[in-house]
Amino acid sequence: MKSAQNSETINEQVTMRKQIVAGNWKMHETLEEGLALAGEIRKRLEGRSSEEKEVLLFPPYIHLAGIAKLLDGLTGFHCGAQNCHHKIEGAYTGEISAPMIASTGANHVLIGHSERRKYFGENDALLAEKTDRGLEAKLTPIFCCGETLEERESGRAFEIVDRQISNSLFHLPKEKIKLLHIAYEPVWAIGTGKSASPKDANEMHAFIRQELSKKYGRDCAETISILYGGSVKPGNAGGLFAMPDIDGGLIGGASLKAADFEAIFNAL
Ligand code: PGA
Repeated sequence: MKSAQNSETINEQVTMRKQIVAGNWKMHETLEEGLALAGEIRKRLEGRSSEEKEVLLFPPYIHLAGIAKLLDGLTGFHCGAQNCHHKIEGAYTGEISAPMIASTGANHVLIGHSERRKYFGENDALLAEKTDRGLEAKLTPIFCCGETLEERESGRAFEIVDRQISNSLFHLPKEKIKLLHIAYEPVWAIGTGKSASPKDANEMHAFIRQELSKKYGRDCAETISILYGGSVKPGNAGGLFAMPDIDGGLIGGASLKAADFEAIFNAL
């Protein structure tokens, strides 16, 4: 667990938060390949995850029931969906709801990944609804935010991320926002091999925590894990995870290779 030693202590307690390595498989792996990959990751990391150091797998929907079964009973080792619909049920051909995800045994959901925002037009208001549906279904949302290259270069990165989190999350009461995690994923770093530097990433994480703190109080902000995503690899994970406000990673490409994913977990 990462402690808030560098911040003021609250009620004279040191607050701890979970450290997490999460794999976002995106649209990769057939059912057979996915079960084999999850089995390989389990073999490498079983007994090493804990309530404080979690491993999360985000495969395509069709893998969820099988992978949830494979991970059943392991401490701190879970799976979740890459998205959910913003309604509980209805005539929405091809869609999957949060209660359906929960019924597979999965207990997490990614909300607002930049690829969902870009290719499927998901906006802040819709993502607020998806976050609500996830929480109602007792899934733990990982809310993704991050600026594009153009937004960073024009000096608007902080403003954009602030808008994303406040528009989609700040309607939640304190007891609910505490239940989710946030992933900062600069769009220009996703799948490009060009990661943010540990210093730049931490600067944004500290900003997000500061905004959470202004709205919900420091005690609440200190309990929310903020993951970094965008070209995390075995070679750069250690530097990123060593930063005080970076509580782990959301890993795309490198999560499809069990050995790389294990090496990234080892860097926690
Ligand atoms: P990447 O993807 O690690 O391949 O850059 C990260 C993500 O999209 O979550």
